[in-house]
Formats: sequence, C-alpha cells, structure tokens
Amino acid sequence: MRATNRPRSAFTDAINGITKKTNDAPEASKAKTDIRRRVLNAIGAENAHVGDWFAGEGRMYQAAWKDAASYIGSDEFWYRDERTCYVGDSLRVLRCIDLKPFTVHDFDTWGSPWTAVLILADRRGPLEPGEKLGLVLTEGSGLRLRMGEIPDALAVISGLYRHMPGVARSHAAIIDRALNELCRRMRCRIEARWQAKGKAASGLYYIGLVLVGVEAPGEGETRPAVEQRPTPEKPDRLECAVRRGLPVP
Ligand SMILES: C[S@@+](CC[C@H](N)C(=O)[O-])C[C@H]1O[C@@H](n2cnc3c(N)ncnc32)[C@H](O)[C@@H]1O
Repeated sequence: MRATNRPRSAFTDAINGITKKTNDAPEASKAKTDIRRRVLNAIGAENAHVGDWFAGEGRMYQAAWKDAASYIGSDEFWYRDERTCYVGDSLRVLRCIDLKPFTVHDFDTWGSPWTAVLILADRRGPLEPGEKLGLVLTEGSGLRLRMGEIPDALAVISGLYRHMPGVARSHAAIIDRALNELCRRMRCRIEARWQAKGKAASGLYYIGLVLVGVEAPGEGETRPAVEQRPTPEKPDRLECAVRRGLPVP
C-alpha cells in the first residue's frame, strides 16, 4: 500500500525529474468525462451507485462521479482525499465483495479491462428484466493487437485465439464481439452506447454503455446485442471469420 501525495523534498523531486504526473492525456479527459456524464444522466444521478475500480487520482470522480448518489473507488495507490476507496488489487476486490448494489461500474484501466468485465459478469450475474446498469470501459488492447496478440481475457470473452497476425485491423469488431458475449452472460442488451477513439498511436477506445436486462431467451434463440456492421467489400480474414462465428484459424 502506498500513499502518493505525501510531501516529497525538492531534492527528491529534482532527482526524479517530477513535474506533474497525471494518469490521463489531457485530450482524452474531455471524451472520458463526456462519456461518464452521459452514463450518469442515463442512469439518473439519484440511482447511480458507482464502483470506480481503477479510480486513480480522481479526475473522473471530480468530473462526474461526485454527483452520483454514492461512490466507492479502488486503486493500488492510496490517494488522501475525500473519496472512500479500497486500496489494493482491484481485481481481488471485485472478486470479494457483493457487486449487486452498484448500478455503475467504471473500468478505466491502462490496458485491457476485460478481466474485470469477466469478473463482473461472473460475480454479479444476470440483470433482472428492465434493470439498468451503467458500464464504462477504457479499452487499451490496441498495442498488443498490433503485435498480433489478443490479451487473455479479451480472447476468452470474444472467443478468439490469442495469437493472430493482422488482428489490429479488427479491433472494433473484436470489441463488438466481446460486448455481445458480455450481454449474453449478463442477460441484457445495450440500450445506449457512446464511444470515442483515442489518437491512432494509442489504439484506445473510450466506451460508455447503458445495459438493460432482458427476459431469458427461449431455447436455441440468440440475440446479438451489438448490431452487426455491414460487411466491407474486401473484408480481411479475421473480419470474415468474426462474422461467421468461431473458430477463427
Ligand atoms: C488510467 S488510470 C485511472 C484514472 C482515473 N480513472 C481517474 O479518473 O483519475 C489507471 C489506474 O488504475 C490503477 N491500477 C491499475 N491496475 C490496478 C489493479 N490491478 N488494482 C488496482 N489499481 C490498479 C493505477 O494505479 C491507476 O491509478
């Protein structure tokens, strides 16, 4: 456990070359804030009980979540401020506590949020018909995809092999596929979705979702939650495979 805002000497700061360290590029903050405010409005601030599982220094708390009915953060670092937070590994926290009371989950990781998403689906279970859940994701798998690797949890939830050259071109299609599977597991559909793409080099997607519970499907019935994109004229190998379903070679 480390507290991050304890006073440091000028000497230590000079040695470390520290000026101001933040967790977000400024250009991303606007899109991230906008997405969170939309999710908050859609759920209704009075109904919003937020779990901010990669809470960081609290920029999103200040920009949006402080207006929610309740808030609990979690981060491996301890920030001495007004927030109530778990301090430790958020993935362990998610596995240990009752997730039902939360109506909004924020997974603002630096990399892939899908391990946390899988834990949420498994531990929280399906939504009741008509029940709403806000979900905010920072999807940062882009760099790994460019190396032809799909992060483990994303491979699991999207049902794809972990190694696949050229997979970065299909980043958006893989996210859709993962969201479809999430909706199947949590028995819900996507009522609203807002998405922003970071700079090309970062390969980041910022995604806000409002999920709403549906009746259990009848036997053999499937309902894709994410509308399929029209097939491009010359789809690549993965794009074709993704459209037809598994397995992908
Ligand atoms: C992109 S920053 C979050 C910024 C934050 N949402 C904000 O508004 O300021 C990612 C944060 O996740 C934390 N983090 C990454 N992996 C973690 C883990 N396994 N458990 C707890 N915190 C983690 C980092 O310490 C970092 O503060």
